[in-house]
Amino acid sequence: MKISIERIHKFVNENEILELKSKALESLNLLHNKTGAGNDFLGWVNLPSSINPSDIGDIQATADKLAGLADFVVVIGIGGSYLGAKAVIEALSHSFDNFQINKKHPTIIFAGQNIGEDYLYELFETIKGHSVAVVVISKSGTTIEPAIAFRLLKKHIENIYGIDGAKERIVAITDKARGAMNTIAVKNGYKMFVIPDDVGGRFSVLTPVGLLPIAIAGFDIKKLISGAADMEAQTNINVDFDENYACIYAAARNALHGKGKLVEILANFNPKLHFLAEWWKQLYGESEGKNGKGIFPASVDFTTDLHSMGQYIQDGNRILFETVLSVEKSTHKLEVPSDEENIDNLNFVAGKRIDEINKSAELGTILAHVDGGVPNIHISIPEINEYHIGELIYFFEKACGISGYMLGVNPFDQPGVEAYKKNMFQLLGK
Ligand code: PA5
Repeated sequence: MKISIERIHKFVNENEILELKSKALESLNLLHNKTGAGNDFLGWVNLPSSINPSDIGDIQATADKLAGLADFVVVIGIGGSYLGAKAVIEALSHSFDNFQINKKHPTIIFAGQNIGEDYLYELFETIKGHSVAVVVISKSGTTIEPAIAFRLLKKHIENIYGIDGAKERIVAITDKARGAMNTIAVKNGYKMFVIPDDVGGRFSVLTPVGLLPIAIAGFDIKKLISGAADMEAQTNINVDFDENYACIYAAARNALHGKGKLVEILANFNPKLHFLAEWWKQLYGESEGKNGKGIFPASVDFTTDLHSMGQYIQDGNRILFETVLSVEKSTHKLEVPSDEENIDNLNFVAGKRIDEINKSAELGTILAHVDGGVPNIHISIPEINEYHIGELIYFFEKACGISGYMLGVNPFDQPGVEAYKKNMFQLLGK
């Protein structure tokens, strides 16, 4: 992974960034010494380097068992109990996975991330007649969206496979002792994985919360963890600011924020990264958006959104900065064919790889947006694979902790999420 902040220098000079250097390093210290706000939720900081190989073995064995039992595995969860797995699986999967037949691995369907009646009805239509297993994930064990989905799926599985069969096909990932999900899992004898007390939902992708669904989908969780562990070393407390990617990113975005850039847009030029941006939005939105503070995290998929949001980014209110998430090399090769008639006037790109055209779009966009007053941070990975996605996950988590402390908030709580629940429960007469 690489990061470049060259294209913010027109907007914030080097000294202004260096002024934030000590603040970034202080925040890094707070994370490592566990002396900042929310310090009982820092279990993720050393997670990649401390994951026990026997825990990985248990996750993999459970994944292999469920994969052998089911055509569809329904993964139930919301927020941090959903987005990490979704992001990694989407990034690594074939773009047309759902249309493939004779797949080696089950299809993962997500549920409990909304309260869509039609969504759930159509889910049952889709799995009807197929073998099914369920992974239910809730740290608190009391979140209503996954609880509703689980009640429906549990009944479905018990009706088809009986109570004993359900035991084989349902896995719960939850708190070690508290919450309704723990009680249900213990009472029914489900296989359980524990979400560590000191790892909050949006920082939990490298626990069983993310690792089990990712392994079921057939991806190499050891490589994912190895990428994250290397990034843990790269962003460690003993790494100089100039080399510490997480500190550089946190300082750059806070410097831009200080210049009135209130919105950060994470832009990708590879559709497989759409959900990585959704995960990133949750990570930064829930961590920083509090006490009337925070950079608003938005995202776009380019070039698709250049034909929608591109106008605003180029020319609208100058409160934006852009972080481009770039993939250096595509996995497959495809060239634009030449055409004798050339009615579409496209022969100027004949023989070029699609990715070369995409890269020209990327550079062209960055230059245009910087000219238009949108500073640019550039983050790139050599290719999409487990290792580099693991690096990105840890990098964004670490930078988020640092950035939250720089902003002066507790990045590890989310008190604002309770407000809608209170009203909803009152309306439902709880
Ligand atoms: O980051 C967080 O803590 C939240 O987004 C939670 O992950 C989300 O609300 C789901 O909570 P739970 O896992 O307790 O059902």
